[in-house]
Amino acid sequence: MKKLCLLGLFASLAFQPVLAATAPDPLKTKEAFINHLMKQMTLDEKIGQLRLISIGPEMTHEQIRDEIAAGHIGGTFNSVTRAENRPMQDAAMQRSRLKIPMFFAYDVIHGHRTIFPISLALASSWDMSAIALSARTAASEAAADGIDMTYGPMVDIARDPRWGRTSEGFGEDTYLVSRIAKVMVKGYQGDNVAAPDSLMAAVKHFALYGGVEGGRDYNTVDMSPTRMYQDYLPPYRAAIDAGAGGVMVALNSINGVPATSNTWLMQDLLRKDWGFKGVTISDHGAIHELIKHGVARDDRDAARLAIKAGIDMSMNDQVYGKELPGLLKSGEVAQADIDNAVREVLGTKYDLGLFKDPYRRIGKAADDPADTYADNRLHRQAAREVARTSMVLLENRNQTLPLKKQGTIALVGPLADAPIDMMGSWSAAGRPEQSITLLEGLKNAVGDQAKVLYAKGANVTNNKDAIEFLNRIIFDREEVHIDQRPPEQMIAEAVKAAEQADVVIAAVGEARGMSHESASRTTLALPETQKALLKALKATGKPLVLVLMNGRPLSLVQEQQQADAMLETWFAGTEGGNAIADVLFGDYNPSGKLPVSFPRSVGQIPVYYNHLTIGRPFTPGQPGNYTSQYFDEETGPLYSFGYGLSYTDFSLSDVSLSSATLKRGGRVEARVTVTNTGKVAGATVVQLYVHDVVASMARPIKELKNFEKVTLQPGEAKVVTFSLSEDDLKFYNPQLKYAAEPGEFQVQIGLDSQNVKQQSFTLL
Ligand code: BGC
Repeated sequence: MKKLCLLGLFASLAFQPVLAATAPDPLKTKEAFINHLMKQMTLDEKIGQLRLISIGPEMTHEQIRDEIAAGHIGGTFNSVTRAENRPMQDAAMQRSRLKIPMFFAYDVIHGHRTIFPISLALASSWDMSAIALSARTAASEAAADGIDMTYGPMVDIARDPRWGRTSEGFGEDTYLVSRIAKVMVKGYQGDNVAAPDSLMAAVKHFALYGGVEGGRDYNTVDMSPTRMYQDYLPPYRAAIDAGAGGVMVALNSINGVPATSNTWLMQDLLRKDWGFKGVTISDHGAIHELIKHGVARDDRDAARLAIKAGIDMSMNDQVYGKELPGLLKSGEVAQADIDNAVREVLGTKYDLGLFKDPYRRIGKAADDPADTYADNRLHRQAAREVARTSMVLLENRNQTLPLKKQGTIALVGPLADAPIDMMGSWSAAGRPEQSITLLEGLKNAVGDQAKVLYAKGANVTNNKDAIEFLNRIIFDREEVHIDQRPPEQMIAEAVKAAEQADVVIAAVGEARGMSHESASRTTLALPETQKALLKALKATGKPLVLVLMNGRPLSLVQEQQQADAMLETWFAGTEGGNAIADVLFGDYNPSGKLPVSFPRSVGQIPVYYNHLTIGRPFTPGQPGNYTSQYFDEETGPLYSFGYGLSYTDFSLSDVSLSSATLKRGGRVEARVTVTNTGKVAGATVVQLYVHDVVASMARPIKELKNFEKVTLQPGEAKVVTFSLSEDDLKFYNPQLKYAAEPGEFQVQIGLDSQNVKQQSFTLL
């Protein structure tokens, strides 16, 4: 009993680090502190730490507090205010026996209260400081609301745009996603994850979730080891190397073995090879789902498999609590299996600074914001700046853009005035009423200099199943407002507005729920309602600007023909409308580049740029006899990875290399001069690709290895230098040996992945 009281003091000692002589100082020695604490814990309390619950209808707040007080919950997620989290922390600190603090998690994916553009859009900026700003702002807002951990970044490589979660990640390319993974982790965690304005990052979904067959969510992933190691695993590793404190485990199986029961993945790769020291968290209900996967007979089996594999925390299922005591008793699970998991959970709380001060992110009630939702808590300027950098100009015939702030502008389309959609999926604690729609943004921009006529013109879709899916299944509320007027009437109204205008802006694409978890599509086309609207608008002969809002690449062959200009804005966040207006009127010159290839049709998938070399490649412009192609459609994507236009023009010099050979341990520098040859200032992304000409296995036709975003005044030139070493040339061979092989390497530098200048060097 004496020991117990001591521990009570111990766990709350933050406020007064007075310790009995025997107790280690928790502020100094993590391991000793945790060992000491573990010794005081009963089995029940240990297992309680492994339980992570969602705040939802399943349990009342009172029940949750009682469970916390009983030591049966280690952490929660889905509560987003200090006032909600404080009573739960009070239950732990005042009523539980050992006073182990709770941690509070949330899906902070692209902003918290201020919603930044969706992750795929952030990746389109290729701007690491903009991405860092988004993560840092999100962390400080979420931490100020009492949140300790985010389930992010989501770094699943996505090469099949049918997958709705493409919107949540950073695209198809390993190098780009890995760079961003690091920036996101550093942005969330700051210099010190224990700081009151930092969040711990739990990178997800480990692993290979983006590789689900057919782009169908939760589907199986079957992948060769070389592809895994070379293309899909590095972003998770990058996040971990950057210090991510947590890992969320994927829902899918990998070559037949679910990630949640995958000992190779969780132990051999993650812990042993990569040296991960932190907490692993199952995805929602995933341990119980091992039964459906067909690898566990019942919950008991599932719990055994998961704890043995190394899943520390069980998210929203009761399986550990129910089954671990029996499994321990029968000897099927060892005490060490449970202890290892508990140690990681306590370690996480330690690293978050919660033993020192359990209220460091919750604060005192007296300091709570008077209005949690107050607009002045938002970071609108940051959101607008980041959103502008994330937009990609896909077409601009006859310099249709930028528009002038004069005359009459017709704004039409189902997404022109859609505040919920502007936020994109996983929009955390963002509020639609605080997001600026395109209609508002245009009006703000033109003031009384120009007239804006608005007509919806079409519903986002009239497909009953899709509407049912969006309004009942995905969100269980009326997300998509369906105008009951006949489609012809809506189109006629839009055409009338267009006829009175000098230019037509059509905001088309997807409702945000169409690019979401579980929202897989078999077509990437715009829904029929929107296609009909565009056809009618085109027939007016007025200049037509398409503003696209979508969370995945769409197939836009017809729209490319119809549009005079086309701007990809993704789902641009709280300040989306203002940011789009900035770009449309040239107050910001678009500088985004695609982080994913846009297929011409769904039949081309996958169409990522860095595919392996093959024996019968198709060569554009040459007869396609017995080469790799489709005979009924042009080969290659509509828009390639790395592509994006500007209001100015850039030219690129030839590549010069510092040496024709590279010695192991040495470096070769590749240099180009980029010049702004147009009339306005602008930014572009200089991209460096490498191709290994002859190797012991087929290698990608090119792979991104570096990039630099440069801003240039009209007429200004800049020399961009990239330094390459042996490390940049390494790859995993079929024996999974990671090495660079001697021989010729092509260095390709361009402003997109296709139009490149090239030089070669030899690795000795
Ligand atoms: C998703 C995760 C998410 C979790 C908690 C799951 O359904 O797959 O990405 O973090 O829910 O909200």
